[in-house]
Amino acid sequence: MCGIFAYLNYNVPRSRKHILDTLVKGLQRLEYRGYDSAGVAVDGGNDKNWDNNSKVIQLIKKRGKVKALQDEIYKQDLLDFDIEFETHVGIAHTRWATHGEPNAVNSHPQRSDKNNEFVVIHNGIITNYKDLKKFLESKGYEFESETDTETIPKLLKYMYDNRESNEISLSTLVERVTQQLEGAFALVFKSVHFPGQVVGTRRGGPLLIGVQSKHKLSTDHIPVLYRCGKEKKAVSTLPRVDGDTCLYPIGEETGVEYYFASDASAIIEHTNRVIFLEDDDVAAVVDGRLSIHRIKRTAGDDPARAIQTLQMELQQIMKGSYSSFMQKEIFEQPESVVNTMRGRVNFDDFTGTVLLGGLKDHIREIRRCRRLIVIGCGTSYHAGVATRQILEELTELPVMVELSSDFLDRNTPVFRDDVCFFISQSGETADTLMALHYCKERGALTVGVTNTVGSSISRETDCGIHINAGPEVGVASTKAYTSQFVALVMFSLMMCDDRLSMQKRRQEIISALRTLPDLIKEVLALDDQINSLAHELYQQRSLLVMGRGFNYATCMEGALKIKEITYMHSEGILAGELKHGPLALVDKLMPVIMIIMKDPTHTKCQNALQQVVARKGRPILICEKNDDESKLLAYRTIELPHTVDCLQGVLTVIPLQLLSYHLAVLRGFDVDFPRNLAKSVTVE
Ligand code: AGP
Repeated sequence: MCGIFAYLNYNVPRSRKHILDTLVKGLQRLEYRGYDSAGVAVDGGNDKNWDNNSKVIQLIKKRGKVKALQDEIYKQDLLDFDIEFETHVGIAHTRWATHGEPNAVNSHPQRSDKNNEFVVIHNGIITNYKDLKKFLESKGYEFESETDTETIPKLLKYMYDNRESNEISLSTLVERVTQQLEGAFALVFKSVHFPGQVVGTRRGGPLLIGVQSKHKLSTDHIPVLYRCGKEKKAVSTLPRVDGDTCLYPIGEETGVEYYFASDASAIIEHTNRVIFLEDDDVAAVVDGRLSIHRIKRTAGDDPARAIQTLQMELQQIMKGSYSSFMQKEIFEQPESVVNTMRGRVNFDDFTGTVLLGGLKDHIREIRRCRRLIVIGCGTSYHAGVATRQILEELTELPVMVELSSDFLDRNTPVFRDDVCFFISQSGETADTLMALHYCKERGALTVGVTNTVGSSISRETDCGIHINAGPEVGVASTKAYTSQFVALVMFSLMMCDDRLSMQKRRQEIISALRTLPDLIKEVLALDDQINSLAHELYQQRSLLVMGRGFNYATCMEGALKIKEITYMHSEGILAGELKHGPLALVDKLMPVIMIIMKDPTHTKCQNALQQVVARKGRPILICEKNDDESKLLAYRTIELPHTVDCLQGVLTVIPLQLLSYHLAVLRGFDVDFPRNLAKSVTVE
């Protein structure tokens, strides 16, 4: 996915330097979404008369991370950085390449022509771009990039050049263009023909708008406008403060600033007042007034968009004293799991009540279902695998855990009496979102388990659980995994809170949840020991991770962490499968990590340990403190505190998170921005 950010100041004097710094900082907050190239578009010219400047759009684009763009910007000797603009529109983009290699030409903003009449920034993918390109080339347009995005500004120019009236608005032109697009997108436009205006729209990609004004705003719900014949009318039923159909500041001055962004982390330092756009919304700012149009009206449409208050705090998206977001997020886990449980698990009363408010209205229907299907990608999939056994035990239902992409490839049968869970930290992963649409079409009840308010999955599922882990910026998911894990365990507890036969087991798990944060702290205190282990391993080419039962997911998740940030080959192996093939990999040179916990699989894991040692393997054990029998056979041990079997996976994953972090640092890689990856994959 990519990061899009735009900043419009209206009647608020800002220097070009302030504007450019704001755009660059916005991209830095979004860099985890994609970071192979970046670009900005600002009003060009150095004329004291803004009217002239706004007739020139200056594009600056650069391969590499946002820092490279920042250096490029300040090399521009053509730009007067001190010139002040009462009104200005700047758009910016950081890219994760899908079509066309990372370079300046393929970076966004993409443009309509050599004069930059229309420019656009895009997150998503246009699936019918080849047809559009063929049409536009037949009309004489020449393409300069390899991107799918470039068709959009060229189509916009085509529609502008063939407009039926000079009164046409930019938002109407954008509506017409988006009706020709197929695929997923979030777009923001700027044009020399519409100075001081910005238009944003979305379909399947997130886009929100922050509003900053020291004056009272005209409304707290922006009515949505629909085309009624030739004109736009609000058909909203909500009362309007002054009968108007758009948002603007009230007062003697009308200074206002708008921030368009892919997610809240780029907005929170400016304002906490935001509007989340819905699919097919077209938001336009003209003369400082924000209005929202819809291309078509569908049943159940909300008649207005509320101005919401973000709960996020700026410090949550800062690294603080940590060297990387990933390190910070690993060490935040004692707090993040507390936040996941906050207000949901009653540790005080003897009943052990667990209440997930987001499921309250659907729990009766969920209890009557015939099957649970848990769907996700990567780490989110592993959270499903990690909790499958406890879900089966406490719900007594068949539980399928599926990789989103494979689930769709198989056209997996889904029925109305299924309950389908969609696990996604970002809430925007395309494969998981497609799986959600697939299940909804077949009448299943859908449950979102996400970490991002306002995300597509959180809005499109029938109900859900917000894991409340706080913003996760590091591309390698860590605290989201343990919070997803705890959220699914809480769900299983909620499902059986009326089963007398399960009360003893419930109490055991709830007691373990209470002590879990402190046990996580205890494991984090092993960081130095794990760092020294990393010094022994960082030059290895491969690393096997073995376990079973409640810790099979830990092996897969640990191997994924190692793969994605150290670029070492690593593989999570089910210990029970060892003798069916993987044992051939074991010799005295192959590093093997084995997870052995005192749970029902303990003896079988020891059998696997014996098999490894018998082949001169030198196993590194992640085991419980008092497991002397296993430790005797170990080359190295990482000793963990005991907790209930179904929660051990929350503890055993942490040494592997820390190990992958230290290995990546020792191998000289960028922990937060691993090559070829992005935080959320919003393309299939
Ligand atoms: C995990 O470390 C990876 N970044 C990746 O596998 C991720 O878990 C996957 O892309 C799913 O993302 P989501 O949870 O946002 O849907």
